[in-house]
Amino acid sequence: MMFPYILFTIVLVQQLATNVEGQAVAWDDWWTYEGITGPQFWGLVNSDWVMCKDGKMQSPINFRANQILYDPNLIPINFDSDTDKMNGTLINTGHDLTFQVDDRNRVNLTGGPLSYLYRLQELRLHYGSIDSQGSEHSVDGYSFPGELQLLFYNYDLYGDLAEATKGTSGLAIISLFIQIGNTTNPELDKLLWNDRLQNVTYKGAAARVEDFNLTNLFPTTPHYMTYQGSLTSPDCAETVTWIVMNKPVYISRKKMTQLRNLWQNTMGQKETPLADNFRPTSNLNSRTIRTNINFTTKDKMGKPCPTMKSKKAYQTNSWLVKPTS
Ligand SMILES: *[C@@H]1O[C@H](CO)[C@@H](O)[C@H](O)[C@H]1NC(C)=O
Ligand SMILES: *[C@@H]1O[C@H](CO)[C@@H](O)[C@H](O)[C@H]1NC(C)=O
Ligand SMILES: *[C@@H]1O[C@H](CO)[C@@H](O)[C@H](O)[C@H]1NC(C)=O
Ligand SMILES: *[C@@H]1O[C@H](CO)[C@@H](O)[C@H](O)[C@H]1NC(C)=O
Ligand SMILES: *[C@@H]1O[C@H](CO)[C@@H](O)[C@H](O)[C@H]1NC(C)=O
Ligand SMILES: *[C@@H]1O[C@H](CO)[C@@H](O)[C@H](O)[C@H]1NC(C)=O
Repeated sequence: MMFPYILFTIVLVQQLATNVEGQAVAWDDWWTYEGITGPQFWGLVNSDWVMCKDGKMQSPINFRANQILYDPNLIPINFDSDTDKMNGTLINTGHDLTFQVDDRNRVNLTGGPLSYLYRLQELRLHYGSIDSQGSEHSVDGYSFPGELQLLFYNYDLYGDLAEATKGTSGLAIISLFIQIGNTTNPELDKLLWNDRLQNVTYKGAAARVEDFNLTNLFPTTPHYMTYQGSLTSPDCAETVTWIVMNKPVYISRKKMTQLRNLWQNTMGQKETPLADNFRPTSNLNSRTIRTNINFTTKDKMGKPCPTMKSKKAYQTNSWLVKPTS
């Protein structure tokens, strides 16, 4: 019975990695944001995660104002929900704080740069141990203390998140930058109630959330930036349309301090903060960042901002009508 034994061994090798203490762990428990299990190593150790190393459309990125193009065809994003009040579960995954929405609460996302209908799966919170870091995306080199990512999967083409991650146009992620303010956004506060945070101190712990209203979470702006990118955690699949809102959501200093007291380990293990769970930015390469903000042709430094219009003078085949400007 040599053959089944070998098969069994290969399966084990594929599913298990080794943690810092030399113990066998599942791949999902292996990766972290630091050291030899951190972002630089994600693409090296697991052949399923090779995009983390070789991908040319990776996320997050740094938004440079002079690289952003105004696209007058971009419409506002649109939510449709069959409930005013969502229920779900807040979970310390050891990688981030995730709010998993109950399946029967359907929230549809359409519009913006999207061609398909996407369905809300969960919210993921990234944040820093200090105010000058924490967000995954940055703007002209400026990092926010946090970033809340709303993850949607393509409901027209795929049955669930896992299937969508393997396909094209699989995911849409809306990012809300988190900024320190005098008070916490009431809806964010509801998600991060004191006793809920206490219950999710350690990895694997969960707390129920009821009556969560997505609309009230959003900053009042129709403006966003959008580009094609990837998941910011393994397997780094390049199937994400990112929509980054142009106004932050506020969180109090007190709430931020409470978040910084959460751990990425299970109870009884060496205590390692959950904070600083952000991937470093990747190169934009040949991608385009578009926005629905109509720059008044000059930015705040007085420099002209490029628009789609100024890039319209490309060569076409001679039998096609040439753009006039
Ligand atoms: C969401 O989209 C699905 C599929 O088109 C549809 O059946 C459902 O009614 C939509 N829900 C809402 C609240 O619009
Ligand atoms: C949230 O609350 C607003 C009013 O504050 C309401 O108009 C909206 O329907 C509610 N539901 C959702 C899903 O946002
Ligand atoms: C949310 O939970 C509350 C309390 O259990 C329940 O009354 C309500 O119907 C739930 N809402 C949805 C949309 O499932
Ligand atoms: C916070 O409160 C101070 C003092 O009341 C005020 O000056 C400041 O503008 C407030 N900041 C924000 C972001 O609301
Ligand atoms: C937190 O945990 C306690 C003890 O297990 C439980 O009674 C309480 O309902 C939990 N709170 C939340 C918000 O899940
Ligand atoms: C964008 O702004 C410029 C200058 O204010 C204005 O002339 C132009 O009509 C605007 N474009 C659109 C599509 O609103």
